[in-house]
Amino acid sequence: MSISSADGKMPVVEFVPLGRGREVRRGVTIISAANRAGVPIGQSCNGDGICGWCKVKVLRGMENLSPPTPIERRLMASCAFAPDERAACLAKISGDITVTTGYW
Ligand code: FES
Repeated sequence: MSISSADGKMPVVEFVPLGRGREVRRGVTIISAANRAGVPIGQSCNGDGICGWCKVKVLRGMENLSPPTPIERRLMASCAFAPDERAACLAKISGDITVTTGYW
């Protein structure tokens, strides 16, 4: 498995407004990237796609995230996610993204 994006660079995740950017392996989830960067992020179901506490707003790079799985689509509907929001525990990174939450 490749750990870099198609252009040979590792994807960079930016957490706004914390100002922490971090290179990550391609295919890791947003929540994994946040945990590795020391960025606090809500979660209570350990990534089972049930609680919705890990919701993040994608400011840039939505196209660089994996498509929502059926589990995430069900969560997005039940928790009324906006079109620019994703479940950090389920969305996998394939390129540069910028995300935020209401509590950072
Ligand atoms: S941690 Fe529960 S849905 Fe993501």
